[in-house]
Amino acid sequence: MDKIKIRGGNQLNGKIYISGAKNAALPLITASLLTGEKVRLSNMPILSDIRSLNKLLIELGTEIEETEETKGGYTSKTYTYQTKEFKSLIAPYDYVRKMRASYYVLGPILARVGHVELSLPGGCAIGARPMDIHLNSLEAMGATIEIKNGYVIADAKKGLKGAHIIFPKASVGATCNILMAATLAKGETLIENAAQEPEIADLIDLLVKMGAKIEGKNTSQLKIEGVKELHGAEHSVLPDRIEAGSYAIAAAITKGRIELINAVAEHLKTPLNILRNMDIKITEKANSIVVDARNADMSGQDIMTDYYPGFPTDLQAQFMALMTVVPGASMVTENIWENRFMHVPELMRMGANINVHGHASAIVRGVKKLSGAPVMATDLRASFALVLAGLVADGETIVNRVYHLDRGYERLEEKLRGVGADIERIKEDDF
Ligand code: EPZ
Repeated sequence: MDKIKIRGGNQLNGKIYISGAKNAALPLITASLLTGEKVRLSNMPILSDIRSLNKLLIELGTEIEETEETKGGYTSKTYTYQTKEFKSLIAPYDYVRKMRASYYVLGPILARVGHVELSLPGGCAIGARPMDIHLNSLEAMGATIEIKNGYVIADAKKGLKGAHIIFPKASVGATCNILMAATLAKGETLIENAAQEPEIADLIDLLVKMGAKIEGKNTSQLKIEGVKELHGAEHSVLPDRIEAGSYAIAAAITKGRIELINAVAEHLKTPLNILRNMDIKITEKANSIVVDARNADMSGQDIMTDYYPGFPTDLQAQFMALMTVVPGASMVTENIWENRFMHVPELMRMGANINVHGHASAIVRGVKKLSGAPVMATDLRASFALVLAGLVADGETIVNRVYHLDRGYERLEEKLRGVGADIERIKEDDF
């Protein structure tokens, strides 16, 4: 398995192009299953999670055309999806196990053809990750759901019907799945306590281009009037706010200056405010955000993860890495996932001073220096936190299990090297 080698100590300066958002691209891909016509998605990030979901769609009967585009020195993919008819209505264990967001096929296939079988994803490193909200909502829309041999078997032979659904939690995944299902249901669906993450607005934009009738974008109440069929459309994936936030922290932790090209400040209000509180200069430009920490007199900050527009859980580990080297104490509270402090023991192996209280909170006391070490993480964002720690640690840090990073950070070494980091990928064969 590949590893990443980092020699810490370089101040990062320059520009980084922010890719299309992984967590927007995944539901956009499965939205293409709602129609037999072509759905063209541009600004797609080049990531293993996208490749995994594409493979599942091919198994289901989707034809995918792939092209590459270079704009302003930055290359992205464009994929055109067309599912004239389904070859299979089963999302098998091997796909779902590798890529949890495979569950986004559930709503669209059920709505279009009235039957789908999906392997239950099970828990993962960050938590139990249940699907009860997705399944209860589909039942409320008239589907019958059976759990058998590890699979969800969903039927709606006479089609789904609109329903009034109140989510017990503002789940991103359930909001996307039920939104997609409701576009082809008979009558009106009202979702209350819907998630409001920007990735959901991006999905709504595509669905509306495909002919869906949706009101309430960017609010917690979504009203969907079902239509008979949807048609083809073209859409450009929104920039990845979590990738942008991660590189903003790279600028902060190395006391450098990075311009995040294509990043949308509106989507990062809460994390950018925390950086501002840390005396870091943030300049919002028309098509970029400049994060300048060269003269910042940083001090510890408390953060508490929450549903959007609160502090994103997907930036919690990276902020914690920053707090390990900032003077003073910081309290980090994780409210979304029950097990998202797996990076703590690895950061401590690099010399961080962190005290975890229960599952949900940790006190971080800034130390003068971290020291490089071989480390590994159990999820994507925790892996990036270790890269950040490596960028400022004395000596060499080797980050193992690079496949986590490849799931969600496009061309990570290239982007960081471009702003001055001493970082390289060591191929398995080189060991
Ligand atoms: C999405 O996961 C993201 N993944 C996650 O990013 C992100 O951490 C999460 O939203 C929260 O922002 C994708 O978009 C592919 P949820 P999702 O349903 O949709 C509970 C990353 O690093 N819940 O909003 O699976 C659940 O247990 C990943 O890119 C139920 O109880 O998250 C959690 O506590 C990691 N029942 C909370 O809701 C359900 O049926 C929020 O989960 C569904 C969820």
